[in-house]
Amino acid sequence: MTEVDQPLALDHQHALDRDCTTLSRHVLQQLQSFSAEAQDLSALMNRIALAAKLIARRLTRAGLVEDALGFTGRTNVQGESVKKMDVYANQVFISVFEQSGLVCRLASEEMEQPYYIPENCPIGRYTLLYDPIDGSSNVDINLNVGSIFSIRRQEGNDLDGTAQDLLQNGHQQLAAGYVLYGPSTMLVYSIGRGVHAFTLDPSLGEFILSSENIRIPEHGPVYSVNEGNFWQWEESIRDYTRYVHRHEGYTARYSGALVGDIHRILFQGGVFLYPGTIKKPEGKLRLLYESAPLAFLIEQAGGSASTGTQKILDVIPEKLHARTPLIIGSPEDVALVESFIQEHNREQRDRPILTSKD
Ligand code: AHG
Ligand code: MN
Ligand code: MN
Repeated sequence: MTEVDQPLALDHQHALDRDCTTLSRHVLQQLQSFSAEAQDLSALMNRIALAAKLIARRLTRAGLVEDALGFTGRTNVQGESVKKMDVYANQVFISVFEQSGLVCRLASEEMEQPYYIPENCPIGRYTLLYDPIDGSSNVDINLNVGSIFSIRRQEGNDLDGTAQDLLQNGHQQLAAGYVLYGPSTMLVYSIGRGVHAFTLDPSLGEFILSSENIRIPEHGPVYSVNEGNFWQWEESIRDYTRYVHRHEGYTARYSGALVGDIHRILFQGGVFLYPGTIKKPEGKLRLLYESAPLAFLIEQAGGSASTGTQKILDVIPEKLHARTPLIIGSPEDVALVESFIQEHNREQRDRPILTSKD
């Protein structure tokens, strides 16, 4: 090899190393073992990747195929209008895991009750919780949407069919992450060993490692919240937004899809909020399918996730489709929002109780 050839050969080697770091290989490398659990997690992530590819394929051609856009005319257990893509993506996860042998039960934002796969249950050691399409109002206008997933160990028998055994805190998650369907499709995951991002290379049909051990900035410029709800919020959240309006260095970004907004914040810093409103004090986002998986991921990247008064990962849901207020992102920015809430709560507590004599 001549001296002139050598740098090219090294570049070539570097590109090949990168192209060979697929998702399933990365999971095994992370666990540094070929134990049964490591192989299970690798296979589970591979299945999620397959679901992501199927959903991405349909989204890419959504304007051209029958029955991809628009509403079904039904409402889901959350009382929200169901889109055709919600139904399709929900079914994709079921089909993909029916053939896996690994998952005994799936719980989805779009299904009132968990979905059992009885033939998998003798060996299926895991439960998958997921939001098949996050931000589905963006589907019809060709903007970014996502999928959110969380893997828990299958526990208990759920004899009464209420899935009581799923009502546990977010620390019980073995893995969590999201898929972002944007200009490229990305899968970001954590198995409790940092946060790693993969980009779908359509020519290979594989998710290839694109960022390893992502660390969220301690502070960032973005605040991401639906300010249309301003007069529906508590005074503390209104005070926080007044604060960012009055101080330099803040900028608003809100896409209508949590996954996209969180992805921006993961890489560039800032805070996403979906606080409670007068009509919905618990806010809109679902603990088990949205807030807890994203909290697991963001904490693994060095960030924080809070209801305002409690860590999201400590919250024990009362029911499968429970909602929580969510404040998530860079640690300093989450702490700032919390400080407004604490201040407001202190004032409420210390306020003298007026009687009719006063
Ligand atoms: P989904 O499409 O799964 O129901 O989730 C939509 C969520 C979330 O992605 C987004 O941040 C938020 O709802 C937007 O709600 P608003 O339109 O009330 O701001
Ligand atoms: Mn969602
Ligand atoms: Mn959804």
